Amino acid sequence: MKIAVIGAGYVGLSNAVLLSLSHEVVLHDILEEKINCINKHVSPIADPEIEQYLTSGLLNLRATTVLDEAIKRANYIIIATPTNYDPQLNYFDTSSVDVVMDYISQYNEKAIIIIKSTVPVGYTVLKRKQHPRMEIIFSPEFLREGKALYDNLYPSRIIVGSDSKAAIVYANLQLEGAKKKEVPVLYTESTEAEAIKLFSNTYLALRVAFFNELDTYAEIRDLNTKQIIEGVGLDPRIGSHYNNPSFGYGGYCLPKDTKQLLANYKDIPQNIMTAIVDANRTRKDHIADMIISREPKVVGIYRLVMKSNSDNFRQSSIQGVMKRIKAKGIEVIVYEPVLHEEFFFGSKVVNDFDEFILKTDVIVSNRFFSELEPVRNKVYTRDLFNRD
Ligand SMILES: NC(=O)c1ccc[n+]([C@@H]2O[C@H](COP(=O)([O-])OP(=O)(O)OC[C@H]3O[C@@H](n4cnc5c(N)ncnc54)[C@H](O)[C@@H]3O)[C@@H](O)[C@H]2O)c1
Repeated sequence: MKIAVIGAGYVGLSNAVLLSLSHEVVLHDILEEKINCINKHVSPIADPEIEQYLTSGLLNLRATTVLDEAIKRANYIIIATPTNYDPQLNYFDTSSVDVVMDYISQYNEKAIIIIKSTVPVGYTVLKRKQHPRMEIIFSPEFLREGKALYDNLYPSRIIVGSDSKAAIVYANLQLEGAKKKEVPVLYTESTEAEAIKLFSNTYLALRVAFFNELDTYAEIRDLNTKQIIEGVGLDPRIGSHYNNPSFGYGGYCLPKDTKQLLANYKDIPQNIMTAIVDANRTRKDHIADMIISREPKVVGIYRLVMKSNSDNFRQSSIQGVMKRIKAKGIEVIVYEPVLHEEFFFGSKVVNDFDEFILKTDVIVSNRFFSELEPVRNKVYTRDLFNRD
């Protein structure tokens, strides 16, 4: 089978690697730099499994900047391009998916389209109306960044928004590459599959927001958050996972997916969806207030990434905290080794660790890194469990 994958990010690259274990896969992206990297068997993203598989010699995979080359004669075309939240429209910007689909409709309308990008609820039905001769299927992606291929090799579930023959073949393609064989597979309507994706991420955001608000309460009332969370988690219905306080939920998906679901709720009664979105803002306000109350002259932001093994800081919550502190006229400097610029949004980047420590009155870190141990008394963090 020939499979085209459009968009070589976390989703596209990990799926391309998985499927190319048994099929011919051509991966397309508009960024030449990424394509060159992949063709040299170098991963453009930090992901141990992708790095390992790219050099394994096991893959039938090539990458190209020419869309035509990828989609020509492809039986399946997987779309994994970005769907950023557009604050003006109050909706996802699906234009990259739209453009690719328009092109395919002209040059290979017989191919089965699998949308892996996260889309608004109802999007696929709309697209099927626009392209009645094409078979368009939405299948949500649940991977974690940094573990993108791992999560496809050992998937928690496979969800496909159709039960057509082509949909079953697609689910089997995913299973064929996976190492875990006992994987729940669920075939649903397309709109339900889109809703599953947004409700799953919004539930995760809710859980993060809940433990963060618990922590805000404990911090202001001078209580021991750790004791409370440990006690709460002993109820097996709640559990002791995914409960580590932070500066807010962040990353590429949770902030935008919660906002999109809230937008989909237009004219539908709800309280929680609004609260989940608002809670993240309130949490960052609170964190900034706590830092400002220490009356620092210079605040040091230690890492913009959310987790130690991350290579990007898209929508990381610490950036919201940083913005609030700067708005009060306090000087902010940044320590972030993945940044090679001199300034980040007007703040000086100081990547010499000793110089960074010396210059700051308060070091702000979303997660506690062992490197900070010698200066622990200067550090402001809400990390209790060194994980998540
Ligand atoms: N990152 C995640 O953890 C995750 C998880 C589940 C779902 N998703 C969803 O999957 C989609 C992709 O996410 P990602 O994290 O892989 O994004 P990404 O930003 O890492 O990668 C997207 C890639 O698409 C390329 N691209 C943009 N426009 C293009 C076009 N017109 N043609 C070809 N390539 C194009 C970009 O250059 C980029 O390399 C998004 O809708 C996202 O919400 C992401």
